[in-house]
Amino acid sequence: MLGKLYGIGVGPGDPELLTIKAVKVLREEVQHVFAASSSKNDYSLARSIVNGHLPAGTPVDQLAFSMSNNAETREGAWQTNCESIIEVMRQGKNAAFLTLGDPLTFSTFIYIMRKVRAQLPEAAIKVIPGITSFQAAAACANEPLAEGDEAMTILSMAKGGRRLKEAAELSDNLVLMKTYKRFPEILSQIREEGLDKHCCFVSRCGLEGEIVERDFEKLAEIGQPHYLSLMIIKRNGLEK
Ligand SMILES: C[S@@+](CC[C@H](N)C(=O)[O-])C[C@H]1O[C@@H](n2cnc3c(N)ncnc32)[C@H](O)[C@@H]1O
Repeated sequence: MLGKLYGIGVGPGDPELLTIKAVKVLREEVQHVFAASSSKNDYSLARSIVNGHLPAGTPVDQLAFSMSNNAETREGAWQTNCESIIEVMRQGKNAAFLTLGDPLTFSTFIYIMRKVRAQLPEAAIKVIPGITSFQAAAACANEPLAEGDEAMTILSMAKGGRRLKEAAELSDNLVLMKTYKRFPEILSQIREEGLDKHCCFVSRCGLEGEIVERDFEKLAEIGQPHYLSLMIIKRNGLEK
């Protein structure tokens, strides 16, 4: 018998935003937990969020995922990590892969799910959704994400701000994820589009060091923000 794979969203950081379903599955269904950590250090925020909800003795392995720009390096890390998960499933144990936010929104779990499905097509895979970072950020800034007939676009800024113009033409509201790497370039793009008075930056939402900033001039002083940073842009104007 093969074990199941659970992709569990643990929310954006505040441990109280973990769902009851996630806790229930972790307590009752799972025999082995995997959590992603950076390849630079072994800290896993996802793991720290579920601490206190795991039955004593549940094995937890932290898997280092490379954030390298080199596709081969990243692919190598996914393959190795995936093999560790498959090994557990082959022992008939249910494995959980913890994801910050939601497992199907810009998450490493997507690659894990595809690889497990390719290697174990008969295995059951179950996703427990999580509250996304941008939902929590909108809540913490009291900025609606979409209302009435509005359209919203969620964009990764990992490769810079070049898609911002196109997206801003189509959408009333934008969420810019992964803003940390190319922040100055993203800010120039925002200014170029005349949206500098329309954006709300949220960093480390629900965590120590949380920042909510609408003053564009102050954003320019940040330099490189924390990895856990995003921007909500509202073409029709911010609430405050
Ligand atoms: C790899 S994506 C993970 C997204 C996650 N799966 C979700 O559902 O929100 C990482 C990006 O999510 C955003 N993010 C995640 N947690 C956040 C937080 N607590 N505060 C602000 N942004 C956050 C940042 O833009 C970060 O660069």
